[in-house]
Formats: sequence, C-alpha cells, structure tokens
Amino acid sequence: MQDEVLLKVEHLCQYFGPTKAVDDVSFEVKRGEVFGLVGESGCGKTTTGRSIIKLYDITGGNVYFRGRRICAGTKSYKDAIVEARKRYADACKDKELSPDEVAKIKAETQAEIADQKLQMKKAIADQKNGDKIYAKELCQQVKDEYEAKIAAANNQEELQAIKAEYAVALRKAKKQKFITRIQMIYQDPIASLDPRMTVEEIIAEGLRIQGEKDKKVIREKVYNVLEMVGLVKEHATRFPHEFSGGQRQRIGVARSVIMGPEMIIADEPVSALDVSIQAQVINLLNELREKMGLTILFIAHDLSVVKYFSDRIGVMYYGKMVELAPSDELFLNPMHPYTKSLLSAVPLPDPQYEKKRQRIEYKPLEAHDYSEDKPTFREVKPGHFVMCNQAEYDKIIMELK
Ligand SMILES: Nc1ncnc2c1ncn2[C@@H]1O[C@H](COP(=O)(O)OP(=O)(O)OP(=O)(O)O)[C@@H](O)[C@H]1O
Ligand SMILES: [Mg+2]
Repeated sequence: MQDEVLLKVEHLCQYFGPTKAVDDVSFEVKRGEVFGLVGESGCGKTTTGRSIIKLYDITGGNVYFRGRRICAGTKSYKDAIVEARKRYADACKDKELSPDEVAKIKAETQAEIADQKLQMKKAIADQKNGDKIYAKELCQQVKDEYEAKIAAANNQEELQAIKAEYAVALRKAKKQKFITRIQMIYQDPIASLDPRMTVEEIIAEGLRIQGEKDKKVIREKVYNVLEMVGLVKEHATRFPHEFSGGQRQRIGVARSVIMGPEMIIADEPVSALDVSIQAQVINLLNELREKMGLTILFIAHDLSVVKYFSDRIGVMYYGKMVELAPSDELFLNPMHPYTKSLLSAVPLPDPQYEKKRQRIEYKPLEAHDYSEDKPTFREVKPGHFVMCNQAEYDKIIMELK
C-alpha cells in the first residue's frame, strides 16, 4: 500500500441545531486502504460520510481530498473571534492594566480578528468553489491537448474531426465535479433507488449529469459495470423492485463504480442483507478494490463485518471518534471501554471462547471521570489513538510498559 493520504478529515463538526451529530472528528484514509468506521446507530457515521461528499455545508473543520480542501466549516474562526473579543473586553475591565497595555491588547485583538475573518473567507470560498476550480483546470488541460492536436493536423478533414472532438471534450470538462471522485453507496438500497427508473437509467444518471450524451457509450459502460458487479446486461431494462436485496445493493455499487471514482464511501452496504449475502457484497467490494485500485471508507455498526475487510478501524461514539487503530491491533488491544464493549458483542467461531464470552456494557459515567480532566484524542502507541484524559493516558502508558 502506498502511503499517500487520499482523504484527510480534520476536526470535522456537523451540528443540526443542538444535535452534535459529528463533533471534532479527525482521521486520514490512505490511497488503496479500506478504512472501517464503526459505532452504534445514531453515532454520526452516515453524517460523516455525507459531510465528506459535501451534502452539507459543514459546521466546522476541514476535509482534504488529494491534498485539496473540499470542505471547510467556519466554526473555529467564529470561535476564535468570540474568544478574542472576550479577551479584549476582559482587558478593558481589568483595573491593573495601564491605558497603553489596553491599547496594545486592542490592536492585537483587531489584528487577530482580521486574520480570522480572512481565513474564514478562504474557507467559505473553498467550500463553494472547489468544483469550479477543478473544472477550470480540466478545461485548461483539454485546451492544451487539443490546441497541440490542431496545430499538428495534416489536412482540413482531420482538422474538422479534431475540432468536433475538442468541442465535446470541453463541454464535458466544464461539467466535471471534483467531488464525484468520491462516490457514496447508500445505506438503504431500496430507498436510494428510484422505483420508476430502469436499472440502466439509474446507473447512467451520473454519466448524463456529467454531460455524456452518446447513447452507445452510455450503454456500453452500463453493460460493463453490470458485469463487474455480478449482474447481466439483461438486467438493464428492469426496475429495482424486480431485484433481491443483494442485487439491489449491486445496482448501488454499479451506480458508484461507473463514475470511475478513486474512493467509495460504503454506508452500511450489507446491514440490510442476509448474512449469506453480506459476504458476497463484501467480496465484490474487495474485488473492485483490487481491480480499480479503489480506496474505501466502509461504514458499519458492528465490528464483525469490518474485521477482515478493513486495514484500519475508527470507532465512533455519540459524534466523537473514541479509538482508531490498525484492525489487528484494535482487536488484540482495544483500549477504550466502548471499543471493549463493542468487541464483547462479536461472536467468534470458537466454542470455548463463546462459552466464556460475556457482554461488557459501556456506561460512560461509570467508566470515566471527566468532571475536571477533559479527554482528547491521543496517540498511545504508533498509529493507535484513544480518546482519553491525562489520567487515563498515564494508565494506558503504564500498562503498555
Ligand atoms: N438531517 C438531519 N437533521 C437533523 N438531525 C440529523 C440529521 N441527520 C442526522 N441527524 C442526527 O444526527 C445523529 C447522527 O445520525 P447519523 O445518521 O449520522 O447516524 P448513524 O451513525 O449513521 O446511525 P445508523 O447506524 O442508524 O445509520 C442522530 O442523532 C440523528 O438523529
Ligand atoms: Mg447511518
């Protein structure tokens, strides 16, 4: 596996009014990796995925894809401005300070606020314009390519053909969106497929939006991906309700794959399926990963599904990432009590173990004392991160020795 960081999620916050669905979550996904994101229902997994593909204007934090900022929230800048104003207000009230000192603090505050506002403006611009900038760059590439071809044309006929091709390529380049490099497979295969559209229409929709008009090209691509996901071209004219749950999820996979993404966010793609079918869909994703060099963010609510499939796993609890480690490491040395509780729910094909297996319940108020010493996300050994406070951190380090 290469070490290129393909996706970087930094202090991501997505609030819905008072609900902090995702609260200060950070992680990186490397190119070619399968990153598993697990946690119980409502902990913010889907919201994390939807935030990454820009279905929301995120509340705070940043998301980078291929080193380019694609999402940027304004919370940290707003917080910093409030903080700076408060510092100045406190200074004004402070009788110990001389007028000169207060004036100095005022100047510093103004500079700080101006700086934060500037950064906030950049964040808003990145959130809004990322796709436009990408399309512009692609257009420039197309221009460079075709101007060279035009210059090298041998005769009038060739020139006309090149110019026609150029127009099509440019029209398509203008419609490209950077964010389509990431595709999402949705949690609910029934609700996410329009019942009035045929399989071909569903799968080809993204291509059409990107400006593909050539029916032959579309059909060929649809047949091709149908085969890739283990369906057949005869399925193209049918409607979603004519398929089984597993087949529907394959349609969902085909719809994502046809866009030629670099990364797929698979949101509980197998939770709604029979256990026997789950393995098939996971195998399919694994095959595609190898064939297409895909990077996958795989969302699931229990650890048994992600265990063999993920290179690294992040565990979420109530909007927070509480533990992150390579898969083997997480199963061997879980450190956060919530992870331990999740693991205790995973059955193993070992009768001895199963006899002794006891479910551990996670009770946050009993497990931690966060009244004074607050928790942060800390690296306790290389690549293994745990949400813990200083006292818990010291204890973990002690035990590791
Ligand atoms: N559009 C929205 N408006 C308001 N609240 C939302 C919205 N979307 C999600 N939430 C809330 O945010 C929290 C996280 O929801 P999310 O769907 O991300 O959880 P999840 O981990 O995907 O759960 P599940 O395993 O059940 O799919 C929940 O409390 C949910 O009610
Ligand atoms: Mg969900």
